Amino acid sequence: MKLLNVAVIGATGIVGKEFITLIEQRNFPVGELFPFASERSLGEFVEYKKKEISIIPLKKENIADKKIDVAFFSAGSAVSKEMASVFSKKGALVIDNSSAFRMDKAVPLVVPEVNGDIVKNMKTGIIANPNCSTIQMVPFLDIVNKHAGIESVFVSTYQSVSGAGKKGIEELKDQVVTLFSGKSSDPQVFPQRIAFNLIPQIGPFYPDGYCEEEVKMINETRKILGIKDLDIDVTTVRVPTFFSHAETVVINTKKECDTAKIKKQIENHSEMILMDDPEELLYPTLIDSSRRNEVFIGRLRSNDTKRRVSAWVVADNVRKGAAYNALRIAETALGVSYE
Ligand SMILES: NC(=O)c1ccc[n+]([C@@H]2O[C@H](COP(=O)([O-])OP(=O)(O)OC[C@H]3O[C@@H](n4cnc5c(N)ncnc54)[C@H](OP(=O)(O)O)[C@@H]3O)[C@@H](O)[C@H]2O)c1
Repeated sequence: MKLLNVAVIGATGIVGKEFITLIEQRNFPVGELFPFASERSLGEFVEYKKKEISIIPLKKENIADKKIDVAFFSAGSAVSKEMASVFSKKGALVIDNSSAFRMDKAVPLVVPEVNGDIVKNMKTGIIANPNCSTIQMVPFLDIVNKHAGIESVFVSTYQSVSGAGKKGIEELKDQVVTLFSGKSSDPQVFPQRIAFNLIPQIGPFYPDGYCEEEVKMINETRKILGIKDLDIDVTTVRVPTFFSHAETVVINTKKECDTAKIKKQIENHSEMILMDDPEELLYPTLIDSSRRNEVFIGRLRSNDTKRRVSAWVVADNVRKGAAYNALRIAETALGVSYE
């Protein structure tokens, strides 16, 4: 396998760091690694294969002399909008973790096990990685859709603070310490206090009453599944946990469904793990999925109409919801295999 020169944009962030850990763990065929971040990180370095590699400030002049095959962007949508095309015009395949291009008709939005075929042999251009909450939900929706057809979907999310990046993690830590010291601190990252609280808002509100994260999940799910008029409703909630997101997913189906068959498909799925035995009190929690690449499914059940499936869906937002899905997109597009 040809070695690939890899750029990570946002290499000092939560997603960027996890990405570097993963390419090392999976033995991705890296020629040179170029870790980019902002000017603030000048003098810092990342560790890759026991070597320290200096952070490169993201500027056009620092890219000009480099041959880059694949660039993973996780530095926010403003940076992606400004710089993704600079990398792709130089011949790199850009996998973008931000929301900048997800709804662009010309840009594929991909969860490889659901619609990876659309990027096979795509060696340059831009591919968008979906929102973390969307990524963990659509493989399950896809299974149920193929089994019994989806009539409608209702989702509630329970999203950890790491979804808001390193600043989100710091805010929860600081608030817990401050509150235990008998003091209080004003929220900076989240709209209200997150410690010992739940916040039913992720991102700004739109005039119709939905917040940004809910709109992302609705639009992205429709695009990935290729069902433009999918009847889907979402409520997104920030919870005071550090890593992994959970979701309750309720699907009304067109035909009667057989939960035993759905469970079998999940058990046989390479990217999913079924943890579902109520008698043994077995179901996935955030802790089970942390630092894991798979989506964990439990509490799978159908009501007496047999035209409804409900489940509890858990995954690591930084892994499955970001770095791991992005890496698998690159593997699919560039034909990377590890045999
Ligand atoms: N966290 C998640 O669960 C998650 C999941 C899916 C998608 N995403 C998306 O991934 C992106 C990064 O998220 P994150 O959680 O990793 O955020 P983060 O922890 O806050 O890290 C942000 C990274 O972007 C870099 N950066 C910021 N401004 C920059 C600039 N002007 N030029 C170059 N680099 C710049 C930062 O560098 P410095 O350290 O130098 O500031 C840092 O490396 C966001 O678009 C986010 O929406 C995140």
